[in-house]
Amino acid sequence: MASVVRVNLPQQSYEIAIACGSLGELGAQMQPLQLGKKVLLVSNPVLYRHYGEQVQASLKTAGFEVASCILPAGEQYKTLKSLQKIYDAALENRLERSSTMVALGGGVVGDMTGFAAATWLRGINVVQVPTTLLAMVDASIGGKTGVNHPQGKNLIGAFHQPRLVLIDPDVLKTLPAREFRAGMAEVIKYGVIWDAELFVKLEECKRLDQMRYVSADLLLEILSRSCQSKADVVSKDEKESGLRAILNYGHTIGHAVESLTGYKVVNHGEAVGIGMVAASQLAVELQMWDKDCDHRQLALIEKAGLPTQLPAPLDIDKILESLQSDKKVKAGKVRFVLPEKIGAATVTDQVPADLIRQVLQGMQ
Ligand code: GLY
Repeated sequence: MASVVRVNLPQQSYEIAIACGSLGELGAQMQPLQLGKKVLLVSNPVLYRHYGEQVQASLKTAGFEVASCILPAGEQYKTLKSLQKIYDAALENRLERSSTMVALGGGVVGDMTGFAAATWLRGINVVQVPTTLLAMVDASIGGKTGVNHPQGKNLIGAFHQPRLVLIDPDVLKTLPAREFRAGMAEVIKYGVIWDAELFVKLEECKRLDQMRYVSADLLLEILSRSCQSKADVVSKDEKESGLRAILNYGHTIGHAVESLTGYKVVNHGEAVGIGMVAASQLAVELQMWDKDCDHRQLALIEKAGLPTQLPAPLDIDKILESLQSDKKVKAGKVRFVLPEKIGAATVTDQVPADLIRQVLQGMQ
């Protein structure tokens, strides 16, 4: 069971290779891509313990010279200080312009490694090997890389596309259920904004809250369709000058909820789920999409075991204030991605603050 999704870009296209058991094939998959001889494998202690040896062996068998850099796990470590450790390892192991960094991990490892690769010697190769559902369907694809500033998420970053994304769904077996649910929020997002068929497939599934309820075939289809959705959008608008903004569906309110709860109460996927519930209700109130579609989306979010109400206690004035400092604010206006029909969304800055307040009050 395997599938390949291509991300077509003007400068350098790449493949997202999805196959069960493919972690041991990493070296062989990288070999034809002219990725130099030296590889710096970046990971966190837990993932490295599970998969580090297998990945190292695969790379060495393919003729790569491998060094590793293990960073502490968690969003709180997505900092310039951790980045410095990657640079130190790159220096110590004399990485060259032709060398490659391999990110084995979730979004934090992927974003930091991508940014280190974007900046080391003004840019070297990066290969993404995502190990969480969220990173598989979102963070590893599309070249957004970066670290957090104490004042905000991903404020320091660069676009730097990977040369290959290798997804082995088998690694999800060690993923905690809560993390699986978080990734499912992004999968549902693609169903709403881009792929109506994916949405219907998710509706047909009895449970989406744990991987063991999703058959291997369906999981592969979910991964392929989600990656294809992201690849389609990124291929059309690599640097987010227009269309790519629809990938931020659920993220406007989602980011506010995440930051106001100190990134501790809800994780990113849960916040996106809450944000999608809010955005959908705004769209209903603005008569942009049907109540029936709103109910269908809510049912999917509930089926994925994600929260659909604001985490208490959260001050609505603070949420409205926080929306103003979001990266998505343009000329002082908050931009929302709102659904129009299952499989299509649009970006608008015409959402009255009173309406946002009203919808959020209904979610308390
Ligand atoms: N995660 C949104 C994007 O890659 O554009």
